[in-house]
Amino acid sequence: MTKDRLSTRNLIGIKDLDLNDINLILNTAQQFKEVINRPIKKVPSLRDVTIANMFFENSTRTKLSFELAEKRLSADVVNFSSSGSSVSKGETLLDTVQNILAMKVDMIVVRHSAVGAAHFLSQKVKAQIINAGDGTHEHPTQALLDAFSIKEALGKVKGVRIAIIGDILHSRVALSNILCLVKLGAKVKLCGPPTLIPRHITSLGVEVDYSLDSILNWCDVANVLRIQTERMQLQYFPSANEYSEFFGITREKLDALNKQIVLMHPGPINRGVELSSDAADSPQSIILDQVENGVAVRMAILYLLANQANA
Ligand code: CP
Repeated sequence: MTKDRLSTRNLIGIKDLDLNDINLILNTAQQFKEVINRPIKKVPSLRDVTIANMFFENSTRTKLSFELAEKRLSADVVNFSSSGSSVSKGETLLDTVQNILAMKVDMIVVRHSAVGAAHFLSQKVKAQIINAGDGTHEHPTQALLDAFSIKEALGKVKGVRIAIIGDILHSRVALSNILCLVKLGAKVKLCGPPTLIPRHITSLGVEVDYSLDSILNWCDVANVLRIQTERMQLQYFPSANEYSEFFGITREKLDALNKQIVLMHPGPINRGVELSSDAADSPQSIILDQVENGVAVRMAILYLLANQANA
């Protein structure tokens, strides 16, 4: 039986969620997806809750998706970007957050380049913390919206063969997806240049296949990741052209398969590197569905966490 409360008061990572938590979030998101497709998209669930979206790293999708989710739930919302803030004068993360909390904020959504930033804040402040991406570590809301989108496209996640392709080493999306999909009973394989696949990753219950042809023939879903050049201190492959030749997904490679696979990408896309435009914009791509579903999934997370605060 699925319970109706989360087992955690913060969302730091998928590692802290059990299967019941994940199913509760996905089922609640389904209800919110129906709400946001109505003519009146707003519900009063988070009236009198104040949320600060604090982005110390750039974002388009996550930031706007959280803001819309909060507004659809009638929360009061303030937005902080480190660029243009007093961080440039040397103010610390904790001082910045504590000053914003002094203005009576209940929840913090935080994105930061430092691994562990959300966990650190959850240990230091009373407000509820939601991790919107911490360095190369976790991006739990992306993994949950990805799982929701797979379930929507194929009717289930359990038993589905999912390939995660690209820069696994630097990707918080990869780690959160692996943890989430394995808990949901999917079969997960990783593919990319050996330099971008972490050693010992198979201990998380996934397999590795370095051949793109082989993994595309195996999978039902290909989740293609961005090459994160901004996090690379070393050269992990000779050139973008060579990366694209061996690991880039094109319409030609998809058409050569004797089946249709579902194509995903968390965005932003490096068009022509990990995905060609004719693949990204093909009918089998659910990339914009992922973005749409992100609002419903984040509404579910905010709603369920707010219930925890009142427990
Ligand atoms: N998928 C994702 O996290 O995108 P943004 O960096 O634009 O938020």
